[in-house]
Amino acid sequence: MGQWYAVAKTKDIRPGEVKHVELQGKEIGIYEVDGEYYAISDICSHEYARLSEGEFYPDEYLVECPLHGSQFDIRTGRPRSLPAVRPVPVYQIRVNGDDLEIYLD
Ligand code: FES
Repeated sequence: MGQWYAVAKTKDIRPGEVKHVELQGKEIGIYEVDGEYYAISDICSHEYARLSEGEFYPDEYLVECPLHGSQFDIRTGRPRSLPAVRPVPVYQIRVNGDDLEIYLD
């Protein structure tokens, strides 16, 4: 059965920044844009690279893989450019008091 897990404090992530967390063996990138939080798998769907180590373009909701440059939409996990063609998983995220919580099945 799924549940919510506290993974970070809201103050740990400033606007336009990304935070890498690990939860239940999954690597997840948390992004903040205009007070909203987004969480997607931090591992590129093309090869092994951490998306949170790439460039983040908050105005476009895009993060760019540092290895080959595919850009992913942090709202949907879908790649917007090659070479990646598969989406990365998206996670539900919510604010609970000072905590950021992610839901895992
Ligand atoms: S590893 Fe991310 S685009 Fe190749």
